[in-house]
Amino acid sequence: MTVKIFDTPEVQDFLKSVAGFDQAGGDERAKQIMHRLLSDLFKLIDDFDVTPEEYWSAVNLLNALGSQTQFGLLSPGLGFDHYLDMRQDAIDAEAKRTGGTPRTIEGPLYVAGAPVAEGFARMDDGQDPDGETMWLTGQVRDVDGTPIAGAKVEIWHANSKGGYSFFDKTQSEYNLRRTIVTDGEGRYTARSIIPSGYGVPEGAPTDVVLKALGRHGERPAHIHYFISAPGHQHLTTQINLAGDPYTYDDFAFATREELVVPAERIEDPAEIARRELEGPFSEVVFDIELARTDAPELQVRHKRPRAKEDEQDQASRLAGTAKV
Ligand code: DHB
Ligand code: FE
Repeated sequence: MTVKIFDTPEVQDFLKSVAGFDQAGGDERAKQIMHRLLSDLFKLIDDFDVTPEEYWSAVNLLNALGSQTQFGLLSPGLGFDHYLDMRQDAIDAEAKRTGGTPRTIEGPLYVAGAPVAEGFARMDDGQDPDGETMWLTGQVRDVDGTPIAGAKVEIWHANSKGGYSFFDKTQSEYNLRRTIVTDGEGRYTARSIIPSGYGVPEGAPTDVVLKALGRHGERPAHIHYFISAPGHQHLTTQINLAGDPYTYDDFAFATREELVVPAERIEDPAEIARRELEGPFSEVVFDIELARTDAPELQVRHKRPRAKEDEQDQASRLAGTAKV
């Protein structure tokens, strides 16, 4: 088919009225962005000769994604989360805020309000029969190497089946989710279990999109972090455990070389006894460096809908309904 109508005055005028350019009310930025978005999509329909069948099947897929609150899952899979990180890295570089542990995506499965502990926390409830004991520890430092006491280290990760508490209703409340405040030497320590990789649910709308691209929806075993301390830039990051088949094939594009960390199996009885554990365990060490900033808005995490972040907020409540 050779029909091309996008560049005609009728279509160009039509786009301006659809985007509300001829209306006094509304939001100017919303109008500009919608105009650009619709223009790109209309042009795409023209260029690819998109049929009505294709268009309506896409609408159906969007409805399915929305009805299962899966846009937050699909977003990393389509690279948006990593792209926003790349932009934030460039913004930091331009402002000469360099150094420190690299950021990487938050993902859609954070839940606010986890229990807070000083220095040490046990994160697992002891109910995962396949859970291999993990000793997770590290030091939070300034970019010049000075330890940061009293830093807030929020950690969350999946269980041995790749499921996250709250979203996976078989787990206890806040299982594998804790906030640990660093001790006088800037150290945090958690006893937990080695997580398994997470996989997008088979057959879910997110999976449908990935399958159409010939892609999988697997993440390597990983552990999420928010780290904050007064006078320092808030850091959202995660570590990917070395040796997982998906460490360098993460569907969410979160892997960064500096964030690949080994889990070292320890069987020495003295080391086991020193940690008051019952048997062999795997140790994961992750030290964190925070960049300095005086700007209060850079010391806190950016706003987004998060489960249990704000019970009054409709978007926050909705974030907790994701079918994962
Ligand atoms: C997704 C799941 C995760 O556990 C994560 O860390 C990032 C993304 C997802 O399903 O999109
Ligand atoms: Fe995750």
